[in-house]
Amino acid sequence: MMNKNRPVIARAHTNIALVKYWGKQNENLIIPQNDSLSLTLDQFYTDTTVTFDPTLTADAVLIDNEVAQGSDYQRVVDFLDIVRQKAQTPDRFFNVNSVNHVPTAAGFASSASAFAALAAAASRAADLKLDLTELSRLARRGSGSASRSIFAGFVQWHTGNDDETSYAEQYASAADWDIGVIALTLQKSRKKVSSRQGMQLSVTTSPFYSEWIKLANSDIEQIKQAIDQHDFTTVGHISETNALRMHALTLSADPGFIYFTGQTIEMINEIRQLRKMGIECYATIDAGPNVKVLCQKENASKIMTHFNQLLGSENVIYTTPGSGIEYLEK
Ligand code: DP6
Repeated sequence: MMNKNRPVIARAHTNIALVKYWGKQNENLIIPQNDSLSLTLDQFYTDTTVTFDPTLTADAVLIDNEVAQGSDYQRVVDFLDIVRQKAQTPDRFFNVNSVNHVPTAAGFASSASAFAALAAAASRAADLKLDLTELSRLARRGSGSASRSIFAGFVQWHTGNDDETSYAEQYASAADWDIGVIALTLQKSRKKVSSRQGMQLSVTTSPFYSEWIKLANSDIEQIKQAIDQHDFTTVGHISETNALRMHALTLSADPGFIYFTGQTIEMINEIRQLRKMGIECYATIDAGPNVKVLCQKENASKIMTHFNQLLGSENVIYTTPGSGIEYLEK
């Protein structure tokens, strides 16, 4: 029996990769080239309501209270097609209402929390009973990084080699960890080269790509050890070097492309300067110009004050580790 007309609401938080996913071995199934490891964040999340509506002849999608159109709409429909196929209900259509509490200003991609929330709400609205591993595999089909947003704390996405074996799971809780992330907003507009295009170009044209895979694999092993030992210094160091190596793939692609702006480089230098002054913090950067600063509680307010002065306090947001997927009652 379908859950006729009963809205299902799911909340998923975004995550920041400390060891990045940057390249697919299977574009269609979104099987990555290497394991990645992230931290789920509390302050940024997506709430998605999905309702099965027997009167619909096509999916109806609202994103941030606007009717989704074009490729944004198609991406949701393609994802719902996977859900329909799994549920063996090809002619069921859904009302989707997705609200991102991820300030675009913070420069976090909302696709991780968006597809994690959609996977959870749509699968339940379609009466699919998925465990968390299956939910992670489903979310992966929408956006690779979404596979990790199903879980709280430190999360590892296992590369795998097919749909069955490529999923994320919690590596360790962050509840007893002293770690926070300060998001610095340098630019609010949508990126010109999507992560999807950017990673594909890197895999096919960067001469350093095979080296990246080797390094990412060893970064995974080392960061897991550092997490076990509550060694913030090593976690921060690996995160910063891994992020810059990912960006080296964009620089070395052909045609090359650059997510950094001049200000991105300035912020990396600021972070290194703070470190020299004994204020420990590390940079990580996704497929855009904005910089995230990893730090510990004792230093957070000093670092915030520093960047508030440089960027204005509206462009500096502090976040802490967050929870995994949740269902909300209306
Ligand atoms: C740089 O998950 O957005 O944030 O699977 O094509 O949807 P698709 O890509 P996406 O890529 C995220 C790239 C990254 C690194 C990471 O989150 O691991």
